Amino acid sequence: QLEAVIFDLDGVLTDTAEFHYQAWKELADELGIPFDRAYNENLKGVDRRASLELILQQASRTYSETEKEQFMARKNSRYQELIRTIRPEHLLPGIPELLEELKSNGIKMAVASASRNAQAILQALAITDYFDHIVDAGALERGKPDPEVFLKAAEALGVRPKNCIGIEDAFSGLEAVNAANMVSVGVGHPETLAIADTVVASTGQLSWSRLKEVYEARA
Ligand code: BG6
Ligand code: MG
Repeated sequence: QLEAVIFDLDGVLTDTAEFHYQAWKELADELGIPFDRAYNENLKGVDRRASLELILQQASRTYSETEKEQFMARKNSRYQELIRTIRPEHLLPGIPELLEELKSNGIKMAVASASRNAQAILQALAITDYFDHIVDAGALERGKPDPEVFLKAAEALGVRPKNCIGIEDAFSGLEAVNAANMVSVGVGHPETLAIADTVVASTGQLSWSRLKEVYEARA
């Protein structure tokens, strides 16, 4: 029985995946490190520190811990500048309707994001009240692809993982959903996200009836 839907934030509820990319891209350009959208796919869902390490793998020199701290701070302040523009109309297509439908059908909802900026973004989107739980990214021991963030969400909702759907735009995020033993729904390219139980091209294709179908097909 489907009882809960657990949402990733960046790239699922709103298009902040693009802002993360832009902020990292500016840093990489300043440092003269090659970085493009294809490589950025590896960073999606991955926490701040691990994202920086992935970028620095492409560099021709090594950096000290102090420099790395500075890079993360620089990226985050640029990112925070970019997210200041976020308004409720920046919810991705179909998301307002989906949240309403799930709520009226008594489905519990949580946010399982790796972002320490999640609370601020949910507030700017004015959707905080839909969620029964928002996992604190700062309190996580292991990032995606580890299932910790999804398991914490299910636990806080009091729902068994197998009664949850996890929605993700990132490969690492879908690995986490699968490892948590939840039904996984990917938003994006079917080839990139082939490990999901179902992939939709856009959030506009997500609806209560579609999610029920996906869940029943898997169960
Ligand atoms: C994830 C994003 O949701 O949050 C990643 O997909 C990002 O791109 C991660 O690195 C951490 O975000 P923040 O806001 O804590 O730097
Ligand atoms: Mg994401």
